[in-house]
Amino acid sequence: MSKTRVLTGITTTGTPHLGNYVGAIRPAVAASLGPDVDAFYFLADYHALIKCDDPARIERSRLEIAATWLAAGLDPERTTFYRQSDIPQIPELTWLLTCVTAKGLMNRAHAYKASVDANVAAGEDPDSGITMGLYSYPILMAADILIFNAHKVPVGRDQVQHIEMARDVAARFNHLFGGGREFFVLPEAQVEEQVATLPGLDGRKMSKSYDNTIPLFEGGAKLLKDSIARIVTDSRAPGEPKDPDSNALATLYQAFADAEDTVTYRAALSAGLSWGEAKARLFQTIDAQVAPLRERYEALIARPAEIEDILQAGAQKARAHAAPLLEELREAVGLRSFQRLACAVKRQDVDTGEAAKPPVFKQYREADGKFYFKLIDADGRLLLQSPGHASPRDAGQRVAALKADPNGALAEGEVPGENVSAAELAAALARFSEA
Ligand code: TRP
Repeated sequence: MSKTRVLTGITTTGTPHLGNYVGAIRPAVAASLGPDVDAFYFLADYHALIKCDDPARIERSRLEIAATWLAAGLDPERTTFYRQSDIPQIPELTWLLTCVTAKGLMNRAHAYKASVDANVAAGEDPDSGITMGLYSYPILMAADILIFNAHKVPVGRDQVQHIEMARDVAARFNHLFGGGREFFVLPEAQVEEQVATLPGLDGRKMSKSYDNTIPLFEGGAKLLKDSIARIVTDSRAPGEPKDPDSNALATLYQAFADAEDTVTYRAALSAGLSWGEAKARLFQTIDAQVAPLRERYEALIARPAEIEDILQAGAQKARAHAAPLLEELREAVGLRSFQRLACAVKRQDVDTGEAAKPPVFKQYREADGKFYFKLIDADGRLLLQSPGHASPRDAGQRVAALKADPNGALAEGEVPGENVSAAELAAALARFSEA
């Protein structure tokens, strides 16, 4: 039975927050434990460069996100866990795909269009501040997915368009170069309906861009508690009934508790639980799940070299999949070794029943006034180079001697061409004397 390959990446620009954990990391780790799942999870650090030009932040974020995955229970033995930038086949495929991607398709990308709209609204040049990285981002993402032939790609709703673009580009490449062969699996987006989008401090979706996040590990239990204290509530006094849906508390609670406890919590709010007490219970519930992970996280992040080793091993596994596919793709588009071409030409000679064309001797005079010859095969390859002779007659005599005795020793100064073996030279000379 073949497994479903599930692939997803996290862009390494920020510090993981509860929303990342509940919305992406926790379900991905759970999915990776399924018996039919072959999970490929990676740090999208090339994508990070699109949004961030602060090297220290890039460095810090990829370490934090790597440690978070591992602390959250990802097993690097059973999954393929790697950094995008350790897989050179990804940018290489990106270029092959870039060359078959319609510019008009990229023009329609939501992220790019939103930037253009914002520029226009601000009275700026439409492309102000828009890099080619941002513009071509969906192609890099397509390469991430297609190089590993992923079937399912768990993503947030905002990423669904990118998966559709990956399918478009894959289909086009298959059509252009496949000759009936499908190089790429057409991936499907997997948007988890059950997985709640966590609200942030202000009740809007928890997101770094809204500055309303609660960090997952950063700052320890203290910052978790302090952040929860900052969740916006109304001014209802202790004892007054409270609408459990009027703020982020109950939804956050639900993300870390079972159904029964959630019902109890909501009922307590309706019955007048104070906001202070509600926040204390929320903190306890979240911390019960997060604290053991945080401990692992702290231990991991204190030993970055071990994380590096894990990621190097993961990259090796990943490259073992990527490299052979990329070889086929290079072949398909015509980036082929000439070695093969040389064999093909030889085979053609055999196929047509003709003897391979004999090599030829060329005699000539150099600026030094001496007389030289070389032996060149039908493809123009140099087989033998002579030293300078005092007269054309001397040179001609050596040519005659070589013709008469193809297996004879070379004279002083006579040098076989590059990569020409003694046997190959003798065979060429024999063909020459027969001709
Ligand atoms: N663009 C994705 C995001 O911002 C991250 C990402 C990069 C990704 N490459 C991917 C997700 C490939 C899934 C598959 O969330």
